[in-house]
Amino acid sequence: MVSQPDLSVNIGGLKIKNPVITASGTFGYGNELIPFYDPSLLGVIIVKGLSIQPMPGNPPPRIIETPCGLLNAIGLANIGIETFIEEKLPSLVKIKTPIITNIYGHSIKEYAEMAKRIESVDRIAAIEINISCPNVEKGGMAFGTDPDAAARVTDQVVKNTTKPVIVKLTPNVTDVSIIAKAVESAGAQAISVTNTFLGMAVDVATRQPKLTNIIGGLSGPAIKPMALYLVHKVVTNVKIPVIGVGGIMDYQDALEFIIVGASAIQVGTANFINPKTAIDIVRDLTDYCLKEKVSNINQIIGSLKTNGENYEKSGDKKNK
Ligand SMILES: Cc1cc2nc3c(=O)[nH]c(=O)nc-3n(C[C@H](O)[C@H](O)[C@H](O)COP(=O)(O)O)c2cc1C
Repeated sequence: MVSQPDLSVNIGGLKIKNPVITASGTFGYGNELIPFYDPSLLGVIIVKGLSIQPMPGNPPPRIIETPCGLLNAIGLANIGIETFIEEKLPSLVKIKTPIITNIYGHSIKEYAEMAKRIESVDRIAAIEINISCPNVEKGGMAFGTDPDAAARVTDQVVKNTTKPVIVKLTPNVTDVSIIAKAVESAGAQAISVTNTFLGMAVDVATRQPKLTNIIGGLSGPAIKPMALYLVHKVVTNVKIPVIGVGGIMDYQDALEFIIVGASAIQVGTANFINPKTAIDIVRDLTDYCLKEKVSNINQIIGSLKTNGENYEKSGDKKNK
């Protein structure tokens, strides 16, 4: 009998059975898909970004399709942490997959309060800090574009929890490795790369922006090469595990991120096309490992073959 490959990976102290994670905001609160398939097959479920108070989000239209992508300005509409814990979490108890909450605050104090509240909830395995939302007026990306602010938010969350802390970065900066290093130094155990890229679209008939919020965040296959590049840049400059996210539609996309150095990957926009994408990727990664005789997926993490040069290491001037 052929033995099954070991797909388990470690992300910042959290051991997960496979590297496939559903991205925040694209998989609801984790329970919506229970009637369609068994979410226990997933490595991790990351739920929609939560805040202390419920948030209505931005007025519609707040999501539109673009060629090979999706532009959204949801504005972090969510039910709030208390309602999530009371009403949604109980239905997730039977799922044998870790739940990670993605958190958002209007101030550093609010991020710290969220961490404190989550600390007592055993079912939540780790915290992903969203310092990268482009669609909210206060907080969000403002923290993710400034290395000092990013470090302060990370520090306050880390100090208020014993759970692994993952920081999700924005691509909307000049050098993502500066922010990555800042949050690593502040105690982050892992980094997710990346959130959406700023974008906009105009209706030429009305000459109005297609999104009420005017600007939104671009996701989907359109961003994959850029997300891959950012993962390459971050893994080159930090020691903590990196989770790759951006435009992953199938197992080959997932493998690209893993080969570049991501310890795990997240599936986002693809869920809106086929909600089974993530479990298809788990199945196809298993088949790939069997076919290629890879007994443990860790063997291919960071196995990118280059000419030995790495121009993305900070301080390396060769790329000038
Ligand atoms: C509709 C929508 C809502 C999202 N909501 C969140 C959120 O609440 N928190 C967060 O950190 N990222 C959020 N994201 C970003 C995704 O988690 C992911 O980082 C991004 O879409 C890139 O991955 P993808 O190309 O696979 O979708 C959202 C994305 C979309 C499309």
